[in-house]
Amino acid sequence: MDHNSKLGIVILAAGQGTRMKSKTPKVLHNLAGKPLLSYVLEKAKTLADEENIFIVCGSNKDKIQKLYQNYKKINWVYQEKQLGTAHSLQQALEQLKKSKLKLDKLLVLYADVPLVNINDLNQLLDINSNNIKLLTIVADNPYGLGRIIRNNNKITGIIEEKDANKEQKLLKEINTGIAVYPVPEIFKWVDQVDNNNSQKEYYLTDVIKIAVKDFIAVQGVNSRYQLQLAERYLQKILAYNLLEQGVSLADIDKIEIRGNIKTGIDNYIDINNVFIGNIELGDNCIIEPNCYLKNVKLSNNVVIKANSYLENVSIESNCNIGPFARLRPETIIKSNSQIGNFVEIKKSIINKFSKINHLSYIGDSIIGERVNIGAGTITCNYDGVNKHQTVIEDGAFIGSNSSLIAPVVIEKNATVGAGSIISKLAPKDSLTLTRAKQKTISSWKRPEKKDQNK
Ligand code: UD1
Ligand code: CA
Repeated sequence: MDHNSKLGIVILAAGQGTRMKSKTPKVLHNLAGKPLLSYVLEKAKTLADEENIFIVCGSNKDKIQKLYQNYKKINWVYQEKQLGTAHSLQQALEQLKKSKLKLDKLLVLYADVPLVNINDLNQLLDINSNNIKLLTIVADNPYGLGRIIRNNNKITGIIEEKDANKEQKLLKEINTGIAVYPVPEIFKWVDQVDNNNSQKEYYLTDVIKIAVKDFIAVQGVNSRYQLQLAERYLQKILAYNLLEQGVSLADIDKIEIRGNIKTGIDNYIDINNVFIGNIELGDNCIIEPNCYLKNVKLSNNVVIKANSYLENVSIESNCNIGPFARLRPETIIKSNSQIGNFVEIKKSIINKFSKINHLSYIGDSIIGERVNIGAGTITCNYDGVNKHQTVIEDGAFIGSNSSLIAPVVIEKNATVGAGSIISKLAPKDSLTLTRAKQKTISSWKRPEKKDQNK
């Protein structure tokens, strides 16, 4: 990191983001679950020490600063009026002047250009030159961006879309906004910028005298449409990374990753699955379509069938979950268990080889090994005021449509007859049931229709 020894970084983040049409500052809009500014800040942190990073904010400065309060040494700069990118940098330079920092170059990043590649930044910083170093790209659709003007291949300036003439609008090489400026030269250059342009703004691009060409993939985010384009672009990279790690995807364009996935190999992910927070996958897992997984850990050979919703749960190997299962926080499913359709489980442990296959609610419970819970079983864990625990010991069998009124214990190998309402302990190795006796009335006649014409 030699080249970075006296590097300072200024992140311009004060723009109002008018084109977003939003009360949230543009730089706090989310891309793959994280604010735009975080992307730029995290990259900046890998290139320079925190005390050499400046972030320029506008009226939302306090809100943004609070969000990043863990970065204790960052220099927060206030730009009261958004008079343009040169004016924004000027505010940072004034603060830099007052500080004791000795820097010899400044990397300027735009907070709304989140997808810049760190290797490209490093390459730019590595170029041995005391001039301005500029990152440009050739864009298929350069609309809205500053065009690079060249004379005999040498960059002579940047012209903004709104100021460009017909010929200049045809140019496809554009300004990414990312540049390295020498210190102290940049001080006097910025002071010379005027606002004689269509937007009456002080353009930072006006300080360009000489530049070094480089090619990278960068997308700016100015509107919700561009945010969406950037989202798709990043999602594709995240999906691609999964493929590279040995996960098969039904469709690289139909997966959403809003967090981190740690994965083993030979997992298969079908379409329309959303992954949020911290996800861990073992090997050989299958996730069928339309599942929502937030902070979920799967061991090996787990199948999550279609349309399941899992949040803060951990599932051991060889389990089958769903379709249409809902596993709520603090649920642990031990190995070789089966959770079927329309089963809701909350804050419970299901031990090995147990089955809850249809239409059940299990809350605040401890379920033993090899337990079978019949269809429609409900643990009545809430008395309207407090929550209570249900304990079902190993080998128990709960007949269909039973209500287990907590706190209650079903002992080892106990059987509960179908349709029972259990409010007291069900002893081990016995049949317990509450049920009205069945009777047949053989003299009973079906009522007959009175008026045959109706
Ligand atoms: C800018 C560049 C353009 C380039 C494009 C790449 C200028 C004049 N134009 O245009 O050449 O192709 O980025 O994405 O620089 N900001 C402030 N204070 C201000 C104005 C802006 O801090 O007074 C910040 C914004 O928050 C934003 C960044 O500077 O993060 C860029 O400003 P923006 O208005 O989005 O510039 P563009 O029109 O996109
Ligand atoms: Ca922009």
